[in-house]
Amino acid sequence: MKKWVTDKDSKGYYWPSEEAKSYAWVKDEKIYEEAAKDPIAFWDKKAREGISWFKPWKKTYLWKPPYYKWFIGGKLNVCYNCVDRHVESGKGKKPAIIWIPEPMNEEKKVLTFEELHKEVQKFANVLKELGVKKGDRVTIYLPMIPEAQIAMLACARIGAIHSVVFSAFSPESLRARIDDAKSKVLITSDGYYRRGKIVELKKNADEAVSGKSPIKKVIVVKRAGNQVEMKKKRDFWWHELMAKAKEKCAPAKLDSEQPLFILYTSGTTGKPKGVIHVNGGYIVMAYWTSKYVFDLHDEDIFWCTADIGWVTGHTYNCYGILATGSTLLFYEGTPDFPDKDRWWKIVEENKVTIFYTAPTAIRMCAQWGSEWPAKHDLSSLRLLGTVGEPIDQQAWSWYFENIGGSRCPIVDTWWQTETGATLITTLPGVGPFIPTVAGRTFPGVTADIVDAEKNSVSGDMGGYLVLKSPFPPSLLRGLWKAEKKYIETYWLSYDKEFYSTNDGARRVDNKYIRITGRVDDVMNVSGHRISTAEIENAIASHKNVAECAVVSQPHPIKGEAPFAFVVLKEAQPSEQLKNELFETVRVKIGPIAKPEVIAFADALPKTRSGKIMRRMLRALVTNQPIGDTTTLLNPESIEQLKKVVGYKG
Ligand code: PRX
Repeated sequence: MKKWVTDKDSKGYYWPSEEAKSYAWVKDEKIYEEAAKDPIAFWDKKAREGISWFKPWKKTYLWKPPYYKWFIGGKLNVCYNCVDRHVESGKGKKPAIIWIPEPMNEEKKVLTFEELHKEVQKFANVLKELGVKKGDRVTIYLPMIPEAQIAMLACARIGAIHSVVFSAFSPESLRARIDDAKSKVLITSDGYYRRGKIVELKKNADEAVSGKSPIKKVIVVKRAGNQVEMKKKRDFWWHELMAKAKEKCAPAKLDSEQPLFILYTSGTTGKPKGVIHVNGGYIVMAYWTSKYVFDLHDEDIFWCTADIGWVTGHTYNCYGILATGSTLLFYEGTPDFPDKDRWWKIVEENKVTIFYTAPTAIRMCAQWGSEWPAKHDLSSLRLLGTVGEPIDQQAWSWYFENIGGSRCPIVDTWWQTETGATLITTLPGVGPFIPTVAGRTFPGVTADIVDAEKNSVSGDMGGYLVLKSPFPPSLLRGLWKAEKKYIETYWLSYDKEFYSTNDGARRVDNKYIRITGRVDDVMNVSGHRISTAEIENAIASHKNVAECAVVSQPHPIKGEAPFAFVVLKEAQPSEQLKNELFETVRVKIGPIAKPEVIAFADALPKTRSGKIMRRMLRALVTNQPIGDTTTLLNPESIEQLKKVVGYKG
């Protein structure tokens, strides 16, 4: 069996084996050096090398703080790059998507590039027939079925801007995203399978577009066969439209800077922000990070467990992987259905070579026990990846030993919805793989760790992670209809000079970057990005709530979990009220935002100007020193809260 890493060295680092080095696309420092010398020239070359353009660009990069553009004047089509060109180069019969349904009695479905090409063209024609034009927004609210990628690629083909909404988001969350983007068309399904049960997705969609809505047409994929209501003239079955659709649809020649998609994510306010990604820069980096970070070769079967509704799903369950012409595996269900070895059974049966998941999932699997992966032959695996949150040593070791058989490197990939693609990681042919350390900036990416005064911090001092010009081609181009928010969130901390990632970081060995976590009021719950303000707004909407503050508490599986302090109006605290508040969060946002704990308090600690002292609340739930309470408006509140949370100090 091939070993892709060496044994641990004296520092506890792993390095690529000779075998891995000779196999890898990138095996040494050369590319890092070349890119660092002139990042603009590097991306200019890489954009030509990896992506097919209808028309070359006139200018590679333009920076007018806080805006930047890449490949200006260039014309391309992302769908063409992900599908057509592979068919044209003779790879039509190669599987593009291997889809695994959750029910065990259903057959897997394989879509070759040729088949994907047909489906995408037909669906692009369906959208056109329904009046969708370049620049129009289309909301996609689909489960993990290949129609999701077909719908996304069809939008990309005609220049419509898609906004994919995670299927576990509530009707209210979906409505907010539809209204903000002013989408004309919604694509959903009757239902889908989740742990053997049918989730009635169409019902949620109906609720989200009831009453006044910009949605004019709803396209419904028949997936689970559950009964749904179809509203005349508004709702259409996917398969019926596809049966009538014309077969050919030429890819539109789109401007490099034309938006490809909007993806809503949580910020520090109660309202989700629509992150805008554009065709050119996004696909260039989606392509190169897929190819180099996962070291994709023609024979690989790549599996990313992220939902299509998150950015990881967009880049590594669709665009980046398909752009390289690789095969991706796409699984509908949960890791524990029908049993806790489902993932490993899929790896074995499909000979998956690259497996990419989140630390929270690894911790969950570790808790279930190593007997589950041990039942299966995982020798097809060559490379493992993680994303979404810092990985702790224990989870790293469990993953390395039990899934990778101590043979496979782990690439820890740091990035954000905003960056569109991985920016910090360790390339598999270069190394070293250091548990808990993401690694170095991807070639051509310029990052730094600075203090609040813009000074680079030295040695292993912690600081704020920032990006510097030239900004990565795949970095967001703005927030949908929220320019002020864009400037405030990413640019104001550093006078529009650096992009603020809002993450903390520190260096190891003066070279490798360890991410220490968010420095704003954004939480990372089971790898899902959630704003404390959003949960607070949901709880505060309950009629009995006077005020509320949500802080993050460390959680052994989820990484972080929301802890809510609630002050009631007249009502008395009760279990029933608590359940009502849990339900309110579930309905307003979705199950992922549900607080771990709701604690009723008489009052929240406040400064004299009335600001809630979240720092103290965080200290209370993490048993850290609370600090000087004498400057508070109501220091007595702290004493009561200590009892409420069982503070040990
Ligand atoms: O705090 C960082 C954390 O996830 C945040 C971005 O979340 P989101 O936009 O939902 O995108 C997640 C998937 C790309 C970051 O600001 N994060 C992401 N990857 C890592 C990470 N923290 C530590 N290590 C990572 N590898």
